[in-house]
Amino acid sequence: MNTTLQTEPARSDYIRIDGLSKRFGGGHDGVLALDQIDCSIQQGSFVTIVGPSGCGKSTLLRILAGLLGYEVGSVLLDGQPIHGTRRDVGVVFQSSILLPWRTILENVMLPAEVIGLDMKQARERAMQLLHMVRLDGFEHKLPRQLSGGMQQRASIARALLHDPKILLMDEPFGALDAMTRERMNLELQRIWMESGKTVVLITHSIPEAVFLGDKVFVMSPRPGTLERVLSIDLARPRTMDVMSDPAFASAAASIRERFSHAASFD
Ligand SMILES: Nc1ncnc2c1ncn2[C@@H]1O[C@H](COP(=O)(O)OP(=O)(O)O)[C@@H](O)[C@H]1O
Ligand SMILES: [Mg+2]
Repeated sequence: MNTTLQTEPARSDYIRIDGLSKRFGGGHDGVLALDQIDCSIQQGSFVTIVGPSGCGKSTLLRILAGLLGYEVGSVLLDGQPIHGTRRDVGVVFQSSILLPWRTILENVMLPAEVIGLDMKQARERAMQLLHMVRLDGFEHKLPRQLSGGMQQRASIARALLHDPKILLMDEPFGALDAMTRERMNLELQRIWMESGKTVVLITHSIPEAVFLGDKVFVMSPRPGTLERVLSIDLARPRTMDVMSDPAFASAAASIRERFSHAASFD
């Protein structure tokens, strides 16, 4: 049975992408990064995106984050076209990009200063989030005093400070060692289940994509098209033992098979 702990009822088409193409530059030197992407993402769901290096994963995420414009197709978030950054989106990149001279708490509170939130409330929320990502007691440390995994958890807390509805993550655990990464996958699943956010996560790890995703979006080599959408029907919360489940193995194998001939998978 597939159990979910989300409090909000799932609504279809929270994010809706139709006919999205993205070209960088013109003429012979132009690169078609995304070609006719159609997909939808349900509210409260966890979507992972895998595909070979250069297939347009980051381009797609940057468009969803409102950090990159597009000319062809439509991208709707809760029925509204995405043009420019929005308050209801939080973003986490591969490197945690914490400011080295600021404490962890000051880093997590940074968006409050940028957006102009009430600082007292923001501080309370930051402390709650640091508790959620299990960084109690590290509030006043500097980033370099924390491990890579802890820094990345602080980045997740920072991305959630303004209470976005959607968390977009671009290879957030790519720089971590394998064991830390497994722990971070479990942590992220827990955070997602507790927070009820919609999460879209890019990864170059097929097991990570299957472990975390309700759906796995499999992109083709450049120009990136959305080749397949796999539904991963494994009960939550998932533990690492799920990797020995036949459904897990067959999902991972079918993605791997698709890319067995790709020169570089990242
Ligand atoms: N700002 C940019 N200007 C020109 N080309 C870009 C830009 N960003 C990405 N590209 C190109 O678009 C393609 C897709 O890039 P990207 O989305 O970063 O792929 P991925 O994240 O899947 O590795 C690549 O060929 C890349 O070189
Ligand atoms: Mg990328």
